[in-house]
Amino acid sequence: MADLKSRADIEKMRTAGRIVRKILDRMGEMCVPGATTGELEDEASTYFLKVNGGSPFLGYAPGEHKPYPAYTCISVNEEIVHGIPGRRVLKEGDIVSVDCAVEMDGWIADSAWTFPVGKISEKAQKLLQVTEECLYKGIAQARPGNRTGDMGLAVQRHAERNGFSVIRELVGHGVGRTMHEDGLQIPNFGWRNKGTVLQCGMTFAIEPMISAGRKDIITLADGWTITTQDRSLAAHFEHTVAITTDGALILTNGE
Ligand code: MF3
Ligand code: CO
Repeated sequence: MADLKSRADIEKMRTAGRIVRKILDRMGEMCVPGATTGELEDEASTYFLKVNGGSPFLGYAPGEHKPYPAYTCISVNEEIVHGIPGRRVLKEGDIVSVDCAVEMDGWIADSAWTFPVGKISEKAQKLLQVTEECLYKGIAQARPGNRTGDMGLAVQRHAERNGFSVIRELVGHGVGRTMHEDGLQIPNFGWRNKGTVLQCGMTFAIEPMISAGRKDIITLADGWTITTQDRSLAAHFEHTVAITTDGALILTNGE
């Protein structure tokens, strides 16, 4: 069963969400040719320390994974998610997905965004635009009484209509006091009227991960980085939202 939050809980998540947005906005500004992903991570970690925010990523070690070593995930081009920041130098034409979650006062918000480095190809531009649109089309279905399948279908339809593929193995998730709450998954594909019924007080991350090529994925030898198997470009846009009587309230848009 999904955990239902009060109005006050949701406001605390929104406070964490404002910090996430600040960090992601800064990450976007730093996506210029010559910057390293490690420099982005350092900027983010400095900000975490300044505002005394907790990182749900740092040390995260589900199942067989070794502890995640950073505050952000930075995934470039064919990397979809969970890229580890380091010495990689960004170059004109790259696309860079930055994922970040912050814990403040015991509550977590999680968001991701894909940024262009300088001028990018038309294909990459379209992938970024369509994936962001997928996120908002999913959110538009996030209202009480609808089901997770309605959101998934909206995301999937828009991606596939544009010739792109939805990653299936990675899904959105309930979020609150922990980054991944049991009992609520938000796939980016689905069927009308199928899946969990959405209720007021549910809070979750919806996070389309879309490939410009095929949907198959592989994990790199570092044990974390997930890429498309065919090495096609991938984009990732994520918001944390709350279900309210008026529909979805976005908690990571900086408002
Ligand atoms: N934010 C990711 C998600 O949405 C999780 C990051 S994995 C970590 O599920 F290892 F970096 F923490
Ligand atoms: Co997430």
